[in-house]
Amino acid sequence: MAKILNFKQELTAAFGSPIAENPTQAMIEAAYRHHGLDWRYLTIEVRKDDLEDAVRGAKAMGFRGFNCTIPHKVAVIRYLDGLGESASVMGAVNCVVRRGDQLIGENTDGKGFLEALRPLCDPRGKRVVVFGAGGAARAVTVELALAGAKSFTVVNRDEARGVELTRLLTDKVKADARLVVWTDDFRVPEGTDVVVNATSIGLYPDVDARLALDVATLQPSMVVADVIPNPPRTRLVRDAEQRGCKVIDGLAMLVNQGVIGIKHWTGIDPDPAVMRKALEDVFGA
Ligand SMILES: NC(=O)c1ccc[n+]([C@@H]2O[C@H](COP(=O)([O-])OP(=O)(O)OC[C@H]3O[C@@H](n4cnc5c(N)ncnc54)[C@H](OP(=O)(O)O)[C@@H]3O)[C@@H](O)[C@H]2O)c1
Repeated sequence: MAKILNFKQELTAAFGSPIAENPTQAMIEAAYRHHGLDWRYLTIEVRKDDLEDAVRGAKAMGFRGFNCTIPHKVAVIRYLDGLGESASVMGAVNCVVRRGDQLIGENTDGKGFLEALRPLCDPRGKRVVVFGAGGAARAVTVELALAGAKSFTVVNRDEARGVELTRLLTDKVKADARLVVWTDDFRVPEGTDVVVNATSIGLYPDVDARLALDVATLQPSMVVADVIPNPPRTRLVRDAEQRGCKVIDGLAMLVNQGVIGIKHWTGIDPDPAVMRKALEDVFGA
């Protein structure tokens, strides 16, 4: 019998601008290869004004899904057919999934964080301090609140942005949230369970940048997490380890959101170790 030939690969992608330095392709395609999937993940520069055409094109060409990054996470919503729960609460989408003829927006950033946290601590009833009030802080805190975290202290420089996040947490997910406007070294209150850096402090090339934080207030009972993936061993990660805290680095969150994305698109559970290794190779970590 003649062998059935199939030259058509299934397509997924990242849409963003600028996108060239985004390493997600290395991680996702490593998983596709490892699991024998004839799928591709393309890194595509999509300018702000071209997003609608890009989404229509992805739909027309049968893309199985795509990630959205800066500046498209909010703007993409109006071109989609529906939203998952946390994307709807956050008002931001980082992962679009084709379901039948529809493109549905999900947010996997916070879920990726939660997956990294769960082996170290159950979020239910926990007290959380988060630095930052942008997209990453929003994703992490909404997902923690949906998973039952008890209270949030949002520490942010810009007051208006901080108020917006605390309002979102109190009004939309009924969590207990307060804002501290960040002016000098923050002292982490006793009884805090989870501390998260969700700012861009420490991101390459400013690798030695320091959070305005009194590190002596970090206790070994606390889990300290950093969203910065590059480099993964940020100054906060090193300081927290020295203080005896349990630590989660930004690669864990990045890998886990990729795992969830692949599961949405392909239905398989990819091996996170293969994906982390691909990123470590890229970053020389
Ligand atoms: N590991 C992952 O999977 C993952 C996923 C998503 C994002 N991230 C990382 O998360 C970081 C933040 O992304 P985002 O989308 O949340 O960005 P964003 O929406 O622009 O928000 C940035 C936040 O960082 C704060 N910030 C920046 N520089 C600061 C400084 N020098 N001092 C004090 N606060 C500062 C900003 O404070 P103001 O409001 O006061 O300006 C704001 O709250 C990025 O580095 C990104 O790489 C990682």
